[in-house]
Amino acid sequence: MEECIRFEGVCKSYGKHTVLQDFNLTVYSGEFLTMIGRSGCGKTTALRLINGLLTPDAGRVLVDGKDVAQTDLIELRRGIGYAIQSVGLFPHMTVEKNIIYVPSLSGKQSRETRAKRVSELLETVGLNPSLADRYPNELSGGQQQRVGIARALAANPRILLMDEPFGAVDEITRRSLQKEILRLQRDLGITVVFVTHDIKEALHLGSRVLVMEAGRISQLGTPEQIKTAPADAFVRELIFGQEE
Ligand SMILES: Nc1ncnc2c1ncn2[C@@H]1O[C@H](COP(=O)(O)OP(=O)(O)OP(=O)(O)O)[C@@H](O)[C@H]1O
Ligand SMILES: [Mg+2]
Repeated sequence: MEECIRFEGVCKSYGKHTVLQDFNLTVYSGEFLTMIGRSGCGKTTALRLINGLLTPDAGRVLVDGKDVAQTDLIELRRGIGYAIQSVGLFPHMTVEKNIIYVPSLSGKQSRETRAKRVSELLETVGLNPSLADRYPNELSGGQQQRVGIARALAANPRILLMDEPFGAVDEITRRSLQKEILRLQRDLGITVVFVTHDIKEALHLGSRVLVMEAGRISQLGTPEQIKTAPADAFVRELIFGQEE
């Protein structure tokens, strides 16, 4: 399998607080990797190292074999969709403007082409296209989150980083979004790194699941491997201890 993202001996600290210590991970092209672990274990930090929002203190992060630290970040991010944990919509822009904000959509296309694309994207994430003219504060939390996902998809990225993207939506919407994201990932062959706190979601979506504990990897394996052979007490607790 072709390699898409690689962490090589990555260390990352904030001041004296070390989050990642000699972190090594390879993500393959077209794979759906889910990441799960306790709050503060370093999941968001890992994602932000992939699109260059953070720089490693030591080690390297490679995307398509190229060191992120040596790459033109605007070019890099054009190919990487990022749906962030806190949604992060621009409050002074309408839904439409928020979605077409991504670099590759602005500029050349006509107003109509862009509006059509925005409608398609809104439908993809289960929103009514009539919401395009609203401002984020006129939407529910779950609707805002779905606009954030539409925006992450807008540039037809080859890599999609998703940080707890379905946290603010109800169970039924969540299931339809899960289906949609799996379909998109399979149809388009994109590589997805998806952070969640929900072990069921991690096992359902992931072709591989990464369980993190305090900045290191507890286990990395297929859902089957994680379920049938949990590597340590932490993974066992995730699988057996937190069933609702
Ligand atoms: N900018 C920052 N400055 C200082 N400390 C930070 C900063 N960002 C994150 N941290 C700390 O680094 C650790 C890892 O943070 P990170 O956001 O990667 O965790 P996470 O696994 O995504 O957690 P959560 O599940 O709560 O989102 C936490 O202890 C956090 O408080
Ligand atoms: Mg986080």
